[in-house]
This record gives sequence, structure tokens and C-alpha cells, in this order.
Amino acid sequence: MGKEKVGLVALVLIVSSWAVSSAPSSPSFRGDLSRGKASLTFGSASSSLVLNRVGSSVVLPLDGNVHPIGSYNATVYVGQPPKPYFLDPDTGSDLTWLQCDVPGAHCTPTPHPRYPPSPDIVDCSDPICASLHSGDYRCDHPEQCDYEVEYADGGSSLGALVKDVVSFRSYSSSRVLSARVALGCGYDQKPSPYNVPFLDGVLGLGKGRSSIVSQLSSRGLVANVLGHCLSTRGGGFLFFGDDLYDSSRISWTPMSRDYPKHYSPETAELLFAGKPTGQKNLLLVFDSASTYTYFSSEAYRALSLRVTNELEKLSGKPFTEIRDPELPLCWKGRQSFKNIREVRKYFKPFALTFNSGKRTKTQFEVPPESYLIISKMGNVCMGVLNGTQEKLGDTNVIGDISMQDKMVIYDNANHCLGWASEDCSQLPKSRAFAA
Ligand SMILES: *[C@@H]1O[C@H](CO)[C@@H](O)[C@H](O)[C@H]1NC(C)=O
Ligand SMILES: *[C@@H]1O[C@H](CO)[C@@H](O)[C@H](O)[C@H]1NC(C)=O
Repeated sequence: MGKEKVGLVALVLIVSSWAVSSAPSSPSFRGDLSRGKASLTFGSASSSLVLNRVGSSVVLPLDGNVHPIGSYNATVYVGQPPKPYFLDPDTGSDLTWLQCDVPGAHCTPTPHPRYPPSPDIVDCSDPICASLHSGDYRCDHPEQCDYEVEYADGGSSLGALVKDVVSFRSYSSSRVLSARVALGCGYDQKPSPYNVPFLDGVLGLGKGRSSIVSQLSSRGLVANVLGHCLSTRGGGFLFFGDDLYDSSRISWTPMSRDYPKHYSPETAELLFAGKPTGQKNLLLVFDSASTYTYFSSEAYRALSLRVTNELEKLSGKPFTEIRDPELPLCWKGRQSFKNIREVRKYFKPFALTFNSGKRTKTQFEVPPESYLIISKMGNVCMGVLNGTQEKLGDTNVIGDISMQDKMVIYDNANHCLGWASEDCSQLPKSRAFAA
């Protein structure tokens, strides 16, 4: 968790380190283009929301934004009677945990009273406990399942698993999805050295067995599919289930078999303004808890050079590079800017393309408003950062900034990732959910 500023990538790692397994444990991938056309051009003007089929999807409104808040949150109810908590939705990690009310706990400030843990303690032999630990995990305390999560931004949580009732009130409020699931009672939180969001915990949405969606789908409550739509105006929504979108309007690409722990597509090529940059075979991870996008050093260099070169070409040179405390690469204009809409015409989109079939390429297009922010000082700044500096190695992280105004779908049932342009300020509300 933790975001804003450089480096708050909530990628991961339970106990073990950032391991790339070459032997995926999941069943073999059934290359899934049958779910939808892999389109060469990105997006479509019309909505991909399905408004007439109302079934099991649960829609949770999100609050927050990329800048200045730096994170989003969903309200989740836990316990009996249910109490609300604000959680950071994290597709980069599996475990859901709450800052827990136990004696001697080390916590960061929370918007609600801390979670009083359920007495239903998960023991160490429970398969869900094993799923959180890699290799030959030894139970130091057989009667409980200890966990430790470390995030790429330097924050961490240590605690033990309990089972409790978690309820999601769908946007319509006519549907409440409740289930007894395993979640973490976090009693030792180390804040990220960056901004610490004022939240009660993390909503783990990764691929692993302990992820909320995996737990709900193993009970048959929803399909093992989730998605989000983050608005450039702030807010948006998160959903579980597969009946909120028209699959034929979504650009789908298979999840990688080589990187089974994260939501990674097959490797990508980076294009700028429709032209190749020479950056190929990029490993990507889609991470909703990362505020910004991180490219490894070479790809970052390629992109920032091209953006800078385009600005140099503008007649009258309306932009000058300037130091800004918020982000490493910023430009000032003749007057200070208030909104990205004032500057987007000077910048070109970049795109990532995936080989998703024999002939077709799926494209993830990132328009200027999905890679730039306007700083507090009124400068325009690059929201794609150097991931090598954040010790992300070769991994490129697609963060919230670049997923704005797209419906992004993580389909674990069919092992693919999908996206489509969407106005995410419109909740798929009343029309779809009206009785
Ligand atoms: C979380 O969401 C609540 C209401 O949905 C909002 O009041 C609060 O400001 C949000 N917190 C953050 C850190 O975004
Ligand atoms: C990215 O960060 C690494 C590590 O700090 C540094 O060596 C490299 O020069 C940086 N790349 C660019 C393009 O700034």
C-alpha cells in the first residue's frame, strides 16, 4: 500500500522474495481469444458496459484519485454486526488485511476504529495458510497462521489470519454479498517511507488462493473475475464477476504462463506516437495499488526522451524543463496549469502492444492524460517513473495513472486480461441495477 510520490508500488511478496517461477502451478493456459476479438485498434467510442444483463456482479464505488491523493479506496464491511473499513484495492498482492485492535499493535492512523479480530483463528495447517507461504514453510505456531507482506514501496504488515464475515454492498445496495473468508489481523505495520494513505488496510485482489475474489469464487458466489474503472476525475468503481461488460468489445490478451504470481500479460513492445521505440519484450504487471507507472531504466529512457523531443519540436517552445518537488521530470509553461486538459494537445500517446494470436496485436494505448499529472505548482510532470530506481528490476508496473478511463478486467477463469475505453465517472448504476 502507500502511494503518491515515487515508489509506492504495492507489489507484493509474502515472506519469499519476488520470485519468477518457471513452472506455473496453474493448469495449462487455454489461449483465449474466443472471449472477444483481439482488436488491432484500441478502444471504441461506445460503452462496453452491459446494461441489460444484471446478474451476479458486485459493483463497489471507489473514492480517491491519482493526484493529489495518490490512492483509491473501497468500503468493505467486516464482522458481525458489519463495520465499515476503507481498503486499498490491490491487484498486486493477494492477502486482505486490516489494522487490528490487539494489545501492543504497531499501526498507522486509521479512519475507523481498528478491527477487533474474530476469535475464529486460521491454523497453520489450513491450505490457505500454505498458499501464503512458499517453499517448505514451517509452522512456528501450529495453532495460528502467521503472515508477513512486504510491498515494493517499503511498507509491510505482519499478523495472523482469522476467518470473519466480509460483506460487499453493491452500488445498487440491493445486493449484499457476504461470505466468511480468511483475512489478516495486522498487528505490526511498517509505513512506507513515502506517503502513507489514511486507510484501514488492503483489499487483496491478486491471483492467489487467498485473494478475496478467489475465496468468493471458490464458494460459487461470483466468477473468478474482477475489474476496475478509475476515472480521470477521481473515483470510479471496482467489480467482481463477469456480467458487467460485453466481452466482444473488450481487447483481450492472455496472461503470461511464465509469471504466474502476478497479473502479467505476455511481453510487450513500446510504441510512441504509433512508432516503434526499439523497446521490446517488456515484462509488465498490472497493479491497482501503484499510483504511477514504472518502466525499467531503458524503457523509461526511451519514453522520456521521446516526450522531451516532441516538446523541443513545438514552435515557440512553450515548455521548459523545471525542478518540481513532486516528480522527477516536469515542465513549466508560460503560465501555471490547472488541468491536464490544457496541455494534452502538446503530448502524444504511447502504447504497449502484445502478440496475442498469430496475426493480431492487442494494444494498450496510453493517452497523455494517463501518463501526465499537473503538480501542485502548476507544472506538467511525467507520471511514468524509473522503476530501476525503485528496485523493481526488469518489471514494468502499469499503475493507476495509466489505467484511468479504461475498464480493466482481470479474468482468472479464462487466464486473460482485458481493457476498453470507458467513461469511468459513470457508475454502471440504476439502469443496470434498477429492478
Ligand atoms: C475513502 O473513501 C471515503 C468514502 O468513500 C472517503 O470519505 C475517504 O476520503 C477516502 N479516503 C482516501 C484516503 O481516499
Ligand atoms: C534509472 O535508475 C537507475 C538506478 O538508480 C539509474 O542507474 C539509471 O540511470 C536511471 N535511468 C534513467 C534513464 O534515468
